Amino acid sequence: MRLWIILGALAVTMPALPAEITRNKNRGRGSMWWGIAKAGEPNNLLPMSPTSLHIEPAVYSTLRRKQRRLARENPGILSAVKRGAKQAIVECQHQFRNRRWNCSTKNFLRGKNLFGKIVDRGCRETAFIYAITSAAVTHSIARACSEGSIQSCSCDYTHQSRASSAIRDWEWGGCSDNIGYGFKFSREFVDTGERGRNLREKMNLHNNEAGRAHVSAGMHQECKCHGMSGSCTVKTCWMRLPNMRLVGDNLKDRFDGASRVLVSNSDRLRDSSNAIMSNSASNSVHNRRDGLGRKHRYNFQLKPYNPEHKPPGQKDLVYLEPSPPFCEKNTKLGILGTHGRQCNDTSIGVDGCDLMCCGRGYKSQEIIVIGRCNCVFHWCCEVKCDVCAIKKMIHTCL
Ligand SMILES: *[C@@H]1O[C@H](CO)[C@@H](O)[C@H](O)[C@H]1NC(C)=O
Ligand SMILES: *[C@@H]1O[C@H](CO)[C@@H](O)[C@H](O)[C@H]1NC(C)=O
Repeated sequence: MRLWIILGALAVTMPALPAEITRNKNRGRGSMWWGIAKAGEPNNLLPMSPTSLHIEPAVYSTLRRKQRRLARENPGILSAVKRGAKQAIVECQHQFRNRRWNCSTKNFLRGKNLFGKIVDRGCRETAFIYAITSAAVTHSIARACSEGSIQSCSCDYTHQSRASSAIRDWEWGGCSDNIGYGFKFSREFVDTGERGRNLREKMNLHNNEAGRAHVSAGMHQECKCHGMSGSCTVKTCWMRLPNMRLVGDNLKDRFDGASRVLVSNSDRLRDSSNAIMSNSASNSVHNRRDGLGRKHRYNFQLKPYNPEHKPPGQKDLVYLEPSPPFCEKNTKLGILGTHGRQCNDTSIGVDGCDLMCCGRGYKSQEIIVIGRCNCVFHWCCEVKCDVCAIKKMIHTCL
C-alpha cells in the first residue's frame, strides 16, 4: 500500500519536467543562425548599389524569414552578426576550456546545430550558449554602429544632445558605442522564433535577455584630455562597451550560480490564457506591428525550482534540468566524453584529473616543447631569449 502511494506520487510529479522539455520539437529553431559563424562570408557589406545586396546561400540557409528581412533592410548587419557569433564561440571555449563540457562546435551543416545536441536540453550549458551568443551579437552590432559599418545606425550621440551642464568640467563628445541599437537589434534578430509560449522558449528568452543585460551593464565612460601640455582643462567623454572577456567572465559567474526554474501549473494556465488573448485580438498582424505582442514576450517571471530560493533576477542564467555528467561519449546526446582530455594533476577543481577523468584515472607523459628561455633584457629596449627544449609533464584522461 505504501509503495503504491510513493509510485503514485512519482507518477504525478516526475514526468512533468521531461515531458515539457522534450515535447517541443522546435526548441532549436531560434538558434540556427549561430551557424553563420562558420558559413561562408556573408557578403552583406555596405552595398555599392542596391542590386549588390546578395546573401551567400550557406548563410541564407541559417536564417529565418524575419532574419533575412532584417539583413536586407540593414546592409552591413550580417557581417557584424557573424563577427558576434565567432566571438561567442571564442569566449565560450575560453570560459569552458578546463571543464568536461568545453563548448566544442560541430562543422556546421544545414539542419544541424553549431553547438550540437546540447542545445536540445535545458541545462546550464544550454543557458550559457544562449546568453553568450546574444551578448556577443549585441556587442558586435553596437560596436559596428560606432565604426560606421552598418548603414542603418551610427555612433550614439544622445548623450551630447542632453543639455551640457555648466557644473561638469567635461563635455560629451566623440563617438559612443550604440548599445541602444545593439540591444534592440539583438532582440529582433536573436529572439526570432522564441515566442515565449512554453517554458523552454521562456528559458531561452530569459537567457538571451541576461546576455544583453550584461553587455548594457558594462557600458562605461571613457574620456580624453585635450588641454595644453597634458592638462585636463578640456575633456571629452563617450560611452564605451565592456570588453567581451569581462562579459564572458560575468556570464560564467552566473553559470556557476544559475537558477533552476520550474514548470508550474499556473505558468501553463497563463500560457493558454495568453494564447486565447492573442487569438481573440482583432488580427494578429496588427498586433505584431504595434509591438504589443513583442513587449508581452518579455513580460514573465520564472519560478525557482526550490521554493526557498528567490526568483531569478534579470542578469541570472536559468535552466530547467540538471546537466548530464559529460563523462562518457554519447552520440545520441551529442556528448564527446573526456577520454583523452588533458587535466591538471595538482588541482582539486573541475580541471583536476579526478573530476575531469570522472575517476577513470589518467596517464602522465613527459613531452618536450620548444620554447624561449634564458631571456635577458638589453638596454634599451630589447629582450633576447634562447630557443630551447623544455621538458613538461602532461596528464591525459584514460
Ligand atoms: C574539447 O574536448 C574534446 C574531447 O572531449 C576535444 O576533442 C576538443 O578538441 C576540445 N575542444 C576544445 C575547443 O578545446
Ligand atoms: C594546476 O593546478 C594548480 C592548482 O590549482 C595551479 O597552481 C597550476 O597552475 C595548474 N597548472 C596548469 C598547467 O594549469
